[in-house]
Amino acid sequence: MIGTGIDWRSLVRRGFAVVVIICLAVSWWVMVLPGTEPVTTHFSNGHPPVSPDRCAVCHVQQSQSLQQAPHTITLQRGSDDLVAQSFGGQTFQDPQANGVVDRFEIRDHQLWRHSPALPDPVPIDWVFGSGQHARTPVTVLPDPSGRIEVVEHRLSWYPGVGIDLTLGMSDKSPPKPGWHGVGKRLNADDAADCFGCHSAWLPSPDGRLDLARIQPGVRCSRCHQEGDAHLQSANAGQPEFSQPRWKELSPLESIRRCGECHRRDDQMTPYELRTTNPLLVRFAPVGISQSPCFTRQDRLAPTETGGKLRLDCLTCHDPHRAAETRSEYYTARCITCHTGQAGRAVHCSDKDASQNCLECHMPKIEVQPHLRFTDHWIRARE
Ligand code: HEC
Ligand code: HEC
Ligand code: HEC
Ligand code: HEC
Ligand code: HEC
Ligand code: HEC
Ligand code: HEC
Repeated sequence: MIGTGIDWRSLVRRGFAVVVIICLAVSWWVMVLPGTEPVTTHFSNGHPPVSPDRCAVCHVQQSQSLQQAPHTITLQRGSDDLVAQSFGGQTFQDPQANGVVDRFEIRDHQLWRHSPALPDPVPIDWVFGSGQHARTPVTVLPDPSGRIEVVEHRLSWYPGVGIDLTLGMSDKSPPKPGWHGVGKRLNADDAADCFGCHSAWLPSPDGRLDLARIQPGVRCSRCHQEGDAHLQSANAGQPEFSQPRWKELSPLESIRRCGECHRRDDQMTPYELRTTNPLLVRFAPVGISQSPCFTRQDRLAPTETGGKLRLDCLTCHDPHRAAETRSEYYTARCITCHTGQAGRAVHCSDKDASQNCLECHMPKIEVQPHLRFTDHWIRARE
């Protein structure tokens, strides 16, 4: 007797499909979920920090260069001039909604969006992003318990391009009517995280954000927590510091402090720390922490003057100003260490020192149209 009615081939095929689905689900879980949780330590109650204007009295240079730097203008109100310049009068024909037109308008010094998803225009309360890479509008909605939720709009402004879809919102489904068609609704905790990384001080009495008193932008007090004490002692002619100075931090402590916002290596699982993980390109401290230049810097001999060759963010960036764009500037940094001499890092085995090192070892990677980031995981690539 044969013919039990079991189709073994189809069973095997189905079993195989199930295994593949489970594997994909597990790898998505491992890759996407852990580590994307940001560390936000700055829900700062108590006194507001010292105003940057007061620091400017003595530190003219840092204050001037920071005035228009991406750190300072990374969060602006919907009534700000820079916001008006980029969004005012702009339109967008949505390819996902039969070319329906979306429109931004400045009215009474305030930015509004006319979205086909809602009958009335929506006010834009805040704009995230300095415009160096992008600007994304956000509308504040108090939730029923009085906490603040936000809608991150699905349209952003890109320099040299104008309006297009926001990073992570380019799914192919057409926008639905209602708030979901306007953008992504974020709960109160996620909304607080957005403001937390884009501001110097974020008061939240009883766990409710007080956006009227926020100090928007990454300003002096966010990176120099000495504040009041330093100010008083400096005024008395004896400047003191209660916090360790940046140069007293180890390279790892230093990059992790920047990583509070730029993301840290210890927020990632070992599985996520792979050169093939596309998410890491945006997270400079994670890439730097994995680079042989960083992990093997201890083997470098002292300089002639007894100083130390050091790799952290400050080797290549002044946090008080926009990132330098000339490749020669960065190549000069590389070859302070890569001289090929004893006690220094080795020469390139492929090209000589006159070449632009970035093209091959720190290339810019497009994470979506109009948005490119520099891969900070310095390495020899195929
Ligand atoms: C009355 C003048 C004065 C004011 C106002 C002032 N500082 Fe200073 N600050 C000084 C002097 C003088 C030094 C140099 C002392 C030293 O490096 O030992 C200094 C040094 C510093 C340093 C360098 C520390 C290092 O790593 O070497 C930082 C950072 C700093 N100030 C930040 C601030 C911030 C932030 C504010 C505003 C909250 C501020 N200062 C306000 C006078 C002032
Ligand atoms: C409070 C959060 C926060 C901290 C702390 C922070 N950053 Fe940033 N940083 C940002 C944000 C937000 C931006 C995006 C600015 C924009 O909108 O273009 C940024 C942008 C930058 C840029 C790009 C500037 C450009 O021209 O595009 C550099 C470089 C940078 N940060 C370096 C640093 C370094 C170095 C440190 C540590 C000393 C640091 N950041 C600490 C939040 C932070
Ligand atoms: C953990 C800290 C952190 C959180 C939370 C965060 N950001 Fe940022 N954001 C940054 C840093 C750092 C940069 C600059 C480097 C980069 O682009 O990743 C940045 C850059 C940006 C930019 C400029 C474009 C770009 O990609 O460079 C926009 C727009 C932006 N963030 C919007 C938001 C919004 C909206 C939220 C909430 C949904 C948010 N951010 C949450 C840290 C954060
Ligand atoms: C994004 C973080 C960040 C912000 C914002 C920031 N600083 Fe700094 N600042 C640093 C770091 C990091 C150093 C150490 C630089 C180094 O060692 O090369 C530093 C160094 C300094 C120094 C010592 C002199 C120097 O350049 O090494 C002074 C003074 C100073 N900052 C003042 C200010 C003032 C005033 C503001 C606000 C107008 C400010 N900083 C905003 C991160 C920041
Ligand atoms: C503070 C010193 C320092 C700086 C600055 C530096 N490196 Fe390195 N780099 C090292 C050390 C140390 C190693 C380990 C190999 C060795 O000891 O020679 C290394 C290794 C490398 C490697 C080999 C990586 C591998 O996969 O094995 C490359 C490629 C590299 N560096 C490129 C660069 C480039 C490009 C720059 C500039 C953008 C740069 N480095 C800046 C110190 C540095
Ligand atoms: C060896 C040099 C080097 C070091 C060290 C370095 N960067 Fe960069 N960084 C670059 C270069 C090159 C660019 C691209 C500049 C350009 O052309 O606009 C860049 C750009 C950036 C940008 C702008 C967005 C992007 O990806 O292009 C941010 C943000 C940034 N760096 C943050 C950091 C932080 C935070 C650290 C410390 C963890 C750091 N960088 C350390 C070389 C460096
Ligand atoms: C045209 C692309 C290109 C440029 C430009 C380039 N490199 Fe390389 N580099 C490579 C390749 C490819 C390798 C790996 C060669 C191999 O595997 O033998 C490499 C290897 C290296 C290594 C590892 C050497 C070893 O023996 O392990 C270092 C260090 C390095 N490069 C540094 C630099 C520096 C610094 C610059 C700028 C002065 C630079 N490279 C410019 C392509 C380039």
